[in-house]
Amino acid sequence: MNTILFAVAAYLIGSISFAVVVSRVYGLSDPRTYGSKNPGATNVLRSGNKKAAIATLVLDAAKGWFAVWLALRLADRYGITDAGIALVAIAVFLGHLYPVFFKFKGGKGVATALGVLLGLNVWLGVATAVTWLVVAYAFRYSSLAALIASVFAPFYYGLLFGVDEILFAVVAMSALLLMRHSKNIGNLLAGKESRIGSKAAGTA
Ligand code: G3P
Repeated sequence: MNTILFAVAAYLIGSISFAVVVSRVYGLSDPRTYGSKNPGATNVLRSGNKKAAIATLVLDAAKGWFAVWLALRLADRYGITDAGIALVAIAVFLGHLYPVFFKFKGGKGVATALGVLLGLNVWLGVATAVTWLVVAYAFRYSSLAALIASVFAPFYYGLLFGVDEILFAVVAMSALLLMRHSKNIGNLLAGKESRIGSKAAGTA
């Protein structure tokens, strides 16, 4: 029962779409109306406001981190098992993808997944973030960096902790993230994906 309550709370926290909230605070257009129309940090950056993009990135990551951190911190007290932690991780991620507060139209999950990984283990998060940074620096595609980092994340988890219930959550998160990037994958294959810093979104 406690696990279900934690998972529901995680889903509700994940449902706060910070791209939309931050854009409102900064007086920017709704990110669902321009660029890729994705409520995420990469698209907020297309508004030209770097501070708003960074705030979106940090807050979307923070909600993923917080949900998992809290569940882990209170796991012993409330009898939350590894399977329960896995459920909380997936719940906060699903909240971001399908937010109840925003008609279930959410983002692609990159920042929130990173926050979840950091909450599970700092080194897991750092290794995945470094992977993102290296690919982003080399190729200047935010989506490609996210795709490659999400493929690597389960391997990093497996190397650090072996196979357990939480690994399945990490794999599920990566699979969902890849699915949410289907349009970006099409753009990348067609050579039409926009690079980081470009105001236009991919056009395929
Ligand atoms: O964080 C999402 C990123 O990987 C792609 O975003 O707006 O270019 O579709 P976008």
